[in-house]
Amino acid sequence: MCGIVGYVGNEQCADLLIEGLRKLEYRGYDSAGVALLEGSLVVVRAKGKLKNLEEKLRAEKPRGTCGIGHTRWATHGKPSDENAHPHQYAGVAVVHNGIIENHLELKAELAGRGHKFSSETDTEIFAHLIAEEEKSGGPLVAAVRRAVARVRGTYALEVLSERSPGTVVAAKNASPLVVGLGKGENFVASDVPAILAHTRSVIFLEEGDFAEVTNEKVSLSNASGESIERPVRHIDWSAVMAEKNGHKHFMHKEIHEQARALTDTIRARASVETGDVHLDGCSLDAVFVQSLTRIQIVACGTSWHAALVGKRMIEELARIPVEVDLGSEFRYRDPLIDKSMLCIAVSQSGETLDTLGSFREARARGARGLAICNVLGSALSRESDDVLYTHAGPEIGVASTKAFTTQLGALFLLAVKLGRLRETLTTDAARSLLTHLRELPALLEKTLLCEPSVKLAAQRWSGARDCLFLGRGPQYPVALEGALKLKEISYIHAEGYAAGEMKHGPIALIDENMPVLVLAPRDPGPQPGAAYEKILGNLQEAKARGGQVIAIHSEGDTMVAGLADASIEIPQTHPLLLPILSVVPTQLFAYHVADHRGTDVDQPRNLAKSVTVE
Ligand code: M6R
Repeated sequence: MCGIVGYVGNEQCADLLIEGLRKLEYRGYDSAGVALLEGSLVVVRAKGKLKNLEEKLRAEKPRGTCGIGHTRWATHGKPSDENAHPHQYAGVAVVHNGIIENHLELKAELAGRGHKFSSETDTEIFAHLIAEEEKSGGPLVAAVRRAVARVRGTYALEVLSERSPGTVVAAKNASPLVVGLGKGENFVASDVPAILAHTRSVIFLEEGDFAEVTNEKVSLSNASGESIERPVRHIDWSAVMAEKNGHKHFMHKEIHEQARALTDTIRARASVETGDVHLDGCSLDAVFVQSLTRIQIVACGTSWHAALVGKRMIEELARIPVEVDLGSEFRYRDPLIDKSMLCIAVSQSGETLDTLGSFREARARGARGLAICNVLGSALSRESDDVLYTHAGPEIGVASTKAFTTQLGALFLLAVKLGRLRETLTTDAARSLLTHLRELPALLEKTLLCEPSVKLAAQRWSGARDCLFLGRGPQYPVALEGALKLKEISYIHAEGYAAGEMKHGPIALIDENMPVLVLAPRDPGPQPGAAYEKILGNLQEAKARGGQVIAIHSEGDTMVAGLADASIEIPQTHPLLLPILSVVPTQLFAYHVADHRGTDVDQPRNLAKSVTVE
């Protein structure tokens, strides 16, 4: 996500803040800014690259031995000078990573008390709330604590106030924050690289922690204001390791970020209490949705695989026929489109030319357009009638991982929304589905515990020339995705197949040299599900021909485990959500095979992150 750095000391710190932000540039951003405090606050912000901010700083020469800085990856409000952080109000400046769920309510409440807002961001409400709370007296940290208590959402927050010179206050909930300890100076940042040039002694803040940082002292407290202690750690990472937060590759880091990314995608949109789904950026209403005759989804690569799962979600929950096509195919087949259709484009970058071209074609022929994408302000989002952002944060590894799982989260929300509007889902059914969705980030975190067994399997079969991935129902697109991941980063030839198709040809490929990765989770509840029983048969067919079976199965399933050469357990959830869990071992398998073979995991040969050519 965005990058944060803060400093309190005896040096003029504008250059130091810029230098820290530069170390976070690799994460991607669309604007940047700093706030400096020496007597009064000065805030300087600029859209675009850091050099734009530096030019402004050279011209304005603001002074301050205490300051906060931020690089922004837009989530609420387009990239612009006004939406860039820090945001200030009445002598308070804030920078923030994360998403505030109840910002619209709070904004309305504050506006009712005469507050005027100068940005479209959710972050700005922090400056207003803190300035109000300061009026009740006490130290800045107490005002921040009271303000934060009114907010629902995720945050890594840094605050400066004209009424508390020489102090930076920080607060953490879900988004990372680290305090750096120096001599006569201290630092607070979202990530270690921002401060590594100055100190290697750090304190990682934990959920609900507050830090009051001056040049001499760092005081930590909890939500009740009680003092707390956290261990001081010595960081021996190289600068390159620090960028990846200690992970060897960005892909590995991003695989491990998926639970948080999924939380950000579903948070504030799903109400388990009422069974309602609120999709900010989408104005679908019952009249339009009930008149829909068909949905067309266009996408490429991993996003196309997500769309194939999305088709099942929408057809099952909202009972609307859904067609899925590749961006590169759809527009050249003279498609049948009319006003009674919705065209959904799924794209991490929002810039993939094939997807964009197909989306434009569908809209030009009268379809309403809905974009599911990750990058705010991307071409796709600008050209769409409705936009559903995935909030995965910047994805740097060329191989998509967290983009896929968050796309599935977004498609599930959309399917429930459409089901509610078409009245194919009762309130109770929707509540039950949303309960499953809400439990998913924790289950995803649990799924990651399979990594040691996946790594062993990856090392055992890393010399394979070919690999088959088999799945049925919602697991078939996961088989396609697993195979794509393996081929793009390890260069092993891999094929994903609907397991029932094996007997129509591909089974001829299976011999003792062929690893076959079988996705065989069972449905929760007493009945294992028809797809499960059939895939057991497919697994045995592969074994009978000498194939080496790596099975991904539900926890406690001794039957599948007993048949397989390697067995990987995942937790159970609703069958339509299972792909979000079952894809994780396939990502880890591809990652560890590639790492073992020594390929360039994050930048595989011949591939680009965003494919803006046909
Ligand atoms: O940005 P998009 O989601 O539109 O990108 C589509 C594909 O180029 C992308 O998913 C590609 O297949 C990835 N390398 C897969 O890991």
